Amino acid sequence: MKTKVGIIGGGPSGLMLSQLLDLQGIDNIVLERQSREYVLGRIRAGVLEHGFAKLMRVAKCGDRMDAEGELHDGFFIAENGVKRRIDLAGHTGGNSVVVYGQTELTRDLYEAREKMGGNVIHNIDDVEFFDLKSDAPYLTYKRGDEINRIDCDFIIGADGFHGPSRKAIPKDVLREYEKVYPFGWLGVMSQTKPVSPELIYSKSNRGFALCSMRSQVLSRYYIQVPLTDTVDDWSDDAFWAELKLRLPTAEAAALETGPSIEKSIAPLRSFVAEPMRYGNLFLAGDAAHIVPPTGAKGLNSAASDIYYLYHGMLAHYKNGDDTGLEQYSEKALARVWKAQRFSWWMTSLLHTFPDNNAFDDKMQKTDMEYLFSSEAALTSLAENYVGLPF
Ligand code: FAD
Ligand code: DHB
Repeated sequence: MKTKVGIIGGGPSGLMLSQLLDLQGIDNIVLERQSREYVLGRIRAGVLEHGFAKLMRVAKCGDRMDAEGELHDGFFIAENGVKRRIDLAGHTGGNSVVVYGQTELTRDLYEAREKMGGNVIHNIDDVEFFDLKSDAPYLTYKRGDEINRIDCDFIIGADGFHGPSRKAIPKDVLREYEKVYPFGWLGVMSQTKPVSPELIYSKSNRGFALCSMRSQVLSRYYIQVPLTDTVDDWSDDAFWAELKLRLPTAEAAALETGPSIEKSIAPLRSFVAEPMRYGNLFLAGDAAHIVPPTGAKGLNSAASDIYYLYHGMLAHYKNGDDTGLEQYSEKALARVWKAQRFSWWMTSLLHTFPDNNAFDDKMQKTDMEYLFSSEAALTSLAENYVGLPF
């Protein structure tokens, strides 16, 4: 097979790029290891920056998001039972975020690809990369017993943190930066009314908790847990009891509980791979960078990669101008590192760190006190949370 752009990974990054390119008549193929049902079964992000929402509209996939997504112009930070609001709109000249689940967004992208007759090939494996430094790179993959080959101009590695694309960059070229946190998040989805109309990020002596939502009848809650815990260690009752202990009294009393419809544990990690381009292979999204989820920046960091890549490809195919592609890695990384800084900072502010000493505890306490005593600090938090421009 021959195409212009071969995209590995049918998550939000790969599907979004595929849709944007197709709308401009740029032929592409998406290769996804899992089935569509499996991809849509993963519960992940819930908070979108407006930059991402705008890209959904450019991709002609924004109708349901605009109808069903909720605009949030503030959220709460609670500290040992005391809840204070971050006025996002007030500190950013009217900006907000959109609460719309990654599952729904991915469904919208799949449906749009299907409507346009996009080529998304599922259940593939063993992707291998060839001649990445040449003008005619190609890849091979296995589907069933068959080995297939795709010749293309560019290959996009949008295959998430565990995918093979990043590993195709030689070790003496790739530089990796990583921080692993000594805890994970246990997440529960339940068909219950959210305890608060706006998200609550709660720091307590028992550890961090987050109250989020997908709609007014679907709640998403998280608690910080040790890395040694497994989902089987947490019955629904144990989860609700622990969550209540980490929330302010009013929210603990009002919390509507119910059976979990999904329960999973995600470890927390900061990770960046540089450069994001090797020859004609371009990395995008989680394939190149991971943030701890505290600032809701993972999916949103993928959005700027896709925006830069899309415009770079457009300039290449429409005007023969390669400046955008040449600058891709540098431009994408500049924004990625700012999202990394913010996610690391919010994680450091709100979690209980088992190895912290008395000095570290004082720093964390002072960080919170400073935040709520300074309009400049609140503005910094708000402008990062709603999303830096790209
Ligand atoms: P992925 O979604 O990982 O997609 C990569 C795709 O590649 C997958 O479908 C995978 O099956 C496929 N693949 C892997 N290997 C291969 C292979 N060998 N061949 C072919 N295909 C392959 N982000 C936010 O912005 N806001 C939030 O509120 C937020 N909350 C989160 C909460 C949790 C609990 C978690 C875990 C993450 C959260 N994130 C959040 C992060 C967000 O989900 C990710 O950043 C996002 O999924 C990245 O999209 P992606 O398309 O780059 O990668
Ligand atoms: C959600 C996840 C996050 O990491 C976050 O910061 C906010 C919301 C969520 O899944 O709803």
